[in-house]
Amino acid sequence: MKILVINGPNLNMLGKREAEHYGTDTLESIEQKLTEKGKTLGCELIFFQSNHEGSIIDFIQEKAGGADGILINPGALTHYGYSLHDALVDCGLPVVEVHLSDIHAREEWRKISVISDVAIRQISGLKTKGYLLGLETLVEHIRGGESQ
Ligand code: DQA
Repeated sequence: MKILVINGPNLNMLGKREAEHYGTDTLESIEQKLTEKGKTLGCELIFFQSNHEGSIIDFIQEKAGGADGILINPGALTHYGYSLHDALVDCGLPVVEVHLSDIHAREEWRKISVISDVAIRQISGLKTKGYLLGLETLVEHIRGGESQ
């Protein structure tokens, strides 16, 4: 099983961003923890981060054909990324949306996700654990679908 793990704008700065919202892990350490988790779940992870919506869309269009699911933290694109939304719809893969911070307990504009209707689940506010839970949820969903 192959999972695309995508991080959007500014998530390359984790570790240096507001720790009260995002925790202290760097993106690299989150990816390391996900790789370990992936091994226990028997899945291969392909990581991608970009500060550019178009580059994320290019990546999805290029890689979705060989993948089984997408774990994505769209960063601020969560709140206005309609082309990202459409790319996720078009790829047809199951998507789990993850946020380190609790987007529902912050500014009004962060409470809106234009991605959530594409996602089988949104996980928000669990910091790094949210990614690990998100991966588990996605793999269980894909495995559930396989056995039907
Ligand atoms: C975020 C929440 C977004 O509102 C913000 O723009 C981010 C990170 C999170 O992980 O909590 O960049 O997606």
